[in-house]
Amino acid sequence: MHKKITLSQAKTWSGRFSVPTTELVKTYTASVFFDKKLALFDIQGSLAHAQMLSEIGILSQQDLKAIQSGMTTIKKEIEREEFQWSLDSEDVHLNIERRLTDLIGDAGKRLHTGRSRNDQVATDIKLYLRYQLDTIQLHLIELISACVLLAQQHYDTIMPGFTHLQVAQPITLGHHLHAYCEMFERDLERLEDCRKRLNRLPLGSAALAGTSYPLNRYRVMELLGFDDITRNSLDSVSDRDFAIEFCSCSSLLMIHLSRLSEELILWMSPRFGFIEIGDAFCTGSSIMPQKKNPDVPELARGKSGRVIGHLMGLLTLMKSQPLAYNKDNQEDKEPLFDTVETVAQTLQVFRDMLGDIKVYTDSMRQAAREGYATATDLADYLVKKGVPFRDAHEIVAKAVLHAEKKEVDLDALSLTELKNFSTHIEKDVYQVLTLSGSVNSRDLPGGTAPKQVKKALNQTLTRIKKRLLISQKRLSST
Ligand code: ARG
Repeated sequence: MHKKITLSQAKTWSGRFSVPTTELVKTYTASVFFDKKLALFDIQGSLAHAQMLSEIGILSQQDLKAIQSGMTTIKKEIEREEFQWSLDSEDVHLNIERRLTDLIGDAGKRLHTGRSRNDQVATDIKLYLRYQLDTIQLHLIELISACVLLAQQHYDTIMPGFTHLQVAQPITLGHHLHAYCEMFERDLERLEDCRKRLNRLPLGSAALAGTSYPLNRYRVMELLGFDDITRNSLDSVSDRDFAIEFCSCSSLLMIHLSRLSEELILWMSPRFGFIEIGDAFCTGSSIMPQKKNPDVPELARGKSGRVIGHLMGLLTLMKSQPLAYNKDNQEDKEPLFDTVETVAQTLQVFRDMLGDIKVYTDSMRQAAREGYATATDLADYLVKKGVPFRDAHEIVAKAVLHAEKKEVDLDALSLTELKNFSTHIEKDVYQVLTLSGSVNSRDLPGGTAPKQVKKALNQTLTRIKKRLLISQKRLSST
């Protein structure tokens, strides 16, 4: 039934085995068709390891040179998509090692000294994720800038502010958009925090217990741009917290994007009529000629579910795993890769879309007028005239009921009519009943007064510009 392994079929680890794996098992256990995404990081890690091995005298200069030139060839083959990936070599690490040995002979076989695929894969994922995280932070900064730009154009555009999706108080669109800038800035901070714990080097942990070779882990750390080395070999090879943390930061980021999506979708519905998203980000209907659908925000809202799903997948993957490395961990890659790609794409498309939104300022203002949005201002006015707040609340409720019956806004009621509700009401009431009077009065840090919004947006921009320099520097050094 089972054939003996021939030399050409032999797996790297086949010395101990007397029967080969079946095709089905081979396919089931292989990861090469997805982990080949790690190839360039695998090479980067190997080159640093080889250099350190030669510096401590374990690898000859000649072998190091051979490894370096072999890796250059392999890198080119991969970049040109000429590299022959093979299922027989199961994963990215063994594929590259096998090709290296084909190219340079015994020196290729010496590369793996003092290393295991367990610390190798942990290092590769960290290098990959660090690069992706840096790129995603850059996209996020660009998105925040786009959001600030739109907000600045509308720092004094009046719209209804909602609670329970019922008109509550007038606000400015700039203020509303700045709320998203704040969410995204927190996402940026969270990613930065994730980066700190991610950026510690696992190499040197070997399979699980460390290695008897006197490896210089700090040298590899330096060569690969890590901030520190991991402090426990068992933890090192089995830890995937950094992937979970990244997916957790990503989930929250996607939740913010889905909240913004939901608002854009609502605002574009003719019932709201607040905005129109550019044609480039919408599609039509194959049956209803009048339709223009906000596909991009709808998809982003949907894709948030996908990213949250990946987080759940990874948490469940790690749950109850005994120390140290288990093959389960091979399942970390696809959810992680998909999270990275989904988040990166969503951020870029949102950045572009925010630059292509037409705002119908009249509809926004009209909606604020219709919703008795200045009722709180009337109550505050009465309080300032000496009426206790609870009584003021009651008086205004009655006035709103009256206005509702007449189907007019509060500022359309005559002074005599208003005086029926409270004798404290004077002519100056009309200043607070106007929408701009209302927003201008909320003039404290964090408030919706255009003056405050302008200031807050400038502060966001200053912080973001500083962060941009850090991101650019990081990416230019990789
Ligand atoms: N392909 C494996 C993974 O992704 C690499 C590590 C395998 N180590 C092992 N001892 N089988 O996790």
